[in-house]
Amino acid sequence: MKICRTKDYKDLSRKAANIIRAQVIMKPDCILGLATGSSPVGTYEKLIEWYKKGDLDFSKVTSINLDEYKGLQPDNSQSYRYFMNTNFFDHINIEKSNTFVPDGLETDSEKACRDYDKIIENCNGVDLQLLGLGHNGHIGFNEPSDVFPSGTHCVDLTPSTINANKRFFDSEADVPRQAYTMGIRSIMLAKKIVVVVSGREKAEILKKVVCGPITPQVPASVLQLHGDVTIVADEAALSQL
Ligand code: GLP
Repeated sequence: MKICRTKDYKDLSRKAANIIRAQVIMKPDCILGLATGSSPVGTYEKLIEWYKKGDLDFSKVTSINLDEYKGLQPDNSQSYRYFMNTNFFDHINIEKSNTFVPDGLETDSEKACRDYDKIIENCNGVDLQLLGLGHNGHIGFNEPSDVFPSGTHCVDLTPSTINANKRFFDSEADVPRQAYTMGIRSIMLAKKIVVVVSGREKAEILKKVVCGPITPQVPASVLQLHGDVTIVADEAALSQL
């Protein structure tokens, strides 16, 4: 694992965006695995800025998102499809038809997951996977469990995740209890992985991810086994390392 230490969130966002920029320049038709949450927002802002300056072209890029809440309409302001559109896709020249997010409206979980795995398979491999880190070590919505889940699956969100994500909803009761998420195997198959981690409240879990045992109880610890992971983290997040 490579650790890229940054001064603060702004610096983190610029450095993470630079890695993605290099990927898009080197391979204009690359497959980007994308993430939601507050951590990558600054990264998307930098990419939009460079696109607007004419430095980046996303017209041939395909994107595959990690996860989606089950039961939310794509135009619900809390859905991850809405998040991606408003924070990134609406501001760049990516073809919307080449952007994929699990179908949160599919009530048949098995079908939703199977369909998404097919999409991932058809893309022939993610070139660069961007990840955030949940407070309990989750990546995507792969929550702590007894095994590392392989493909796309439907998860029951843990109380810790519901609590962490309630800040985006009117009340905790509005946070969906289930989500569809790409599995650990699909994440691990990406050629390159970039994890953005910011803030003191992530310091303890980041230490476990990097230095602790590899265990599905800390899902992101599996990244220790990947050959090309860069953790871009600010000083606050690295304060326990
Ligand atoms: C959600 C998302 C994750 C994200 C995590 C951390 O649960 N499913 O993909 O990494 O939140 O979010 P934040 O960056 O806001 O701390």
